[in-house]
Amino acid sequence: MLATSTRASVAAALEAAGTNGLSGEALAAQLGISRVAVSRHVATLRSLGYEIASAPRAGYRLLSAPDVSIPEEVAPRLRHSLWTRCDGGIEVGSTNDDAKRLARAGAAEGTLVVAARQTGGRGRFGRVWDSPPGGVYASMVLRPPCTPAEVSALSLVVGLGVARSLEALGVTVGLKWPNDIELGGRKLGGILLEMAAEADRVEWVVAGIGINVADTGREGSAWLRESVPSLRVPVVAASVLDGVAASYVEFVAGGFEPIRTAYEERLTSRGAEVSVRDLAGATVAFGRVVGVDCSGALLLERAEGTTAIHAGEVTLRDPV
Ligand code: BTN
Repeated sequence: MLATSTRASVAAALEAAGTNGLSGEALAAQLGISRVAVSRHVATLRSLGYEIASAPRAGYRLLSAPDVSIPEEVAPRLRHSLWTRCDGGIEVGSTNDDAKRLARAGAAEGTLVVAARQTGGRGRFGRVWDSPPGGVYASMVLRPPCTPAEVSALSLVVGLGVARSLEALGVTVGLKWPNDIELGGRKLGGILLEMAAEADRVEWVVAGIGINVADTGREGSAWLRESVPSLRVPVVAASVLDGVAASYVEFVAGGFEPIRTAYEERLTSRGAEVSVRDLAGATVAFGRVVGVDCSGALLLERAEGTTAIHAGEVTLRDPV
């Protein structure tokens, strides 16, 4: 069960009340808090960007809510039972760093950190992930009952969950192995998995997700509102997180094999000739992509046979 902050409950109650609004007294009674506490929470919500009108007898009326992925907006929209807690705020360094701190301190599986913007967002290969408002920035603590080797498949599972949830919102995306989200051949989002493990047991995994909803100015990138202009950032954040939770639960129950085909159906490079580069940019393999195996490795076909690639960055090869 997701523990929601009282502030988030105040925001959700005002949203549910709509244009009628709610008196301070009614809000206090509904949430089991004092009227002083209600006005304190309303003041904080206003500082977070909520426009809330107040009148002596009519009480409080929500005029607009901030269109960003903050806990107050995301938590009330989450539906999956995996989620236990939702932390974060307007600005954090990196949601992955915060989630890792919580994981090390023993936070339960299903702990989330979400933010409107990041000052130190990180991507794969140590790259910077620009994180201005207008994107989803979210990280989750997972404690999968698997070995460190099985975590590579988990990263594909997270990508599949993101893709399925975006499809449900009306945007058909592709998955670039291992876990980039693409829209119209451009990068829409990415996933960063970090973990702590012993030789045969994973202690925790932090999966961080970044998705461009509005045009964040990232050169060459895609954004969701190109396809569906009405999409709000917190709606995308909650849908994506619930989608990932659903795929994760499938993975924990049956491993990667039962969802492998669903991943392959969305694999953008399937059938294409590609090169795979390592961290230093050196080509480590090339061939025609035929799919992924049950461990999540990319399968490349070459004249001498099929090779399984476990890590690297895929680029399409120029036709010769
Ligand atoms: C990539 O494609 O290189 C992965 C990008 C992952 C970015 C997300 S945004 C939320 C989370 N916090 C981070 O610092 N990074 C991930």
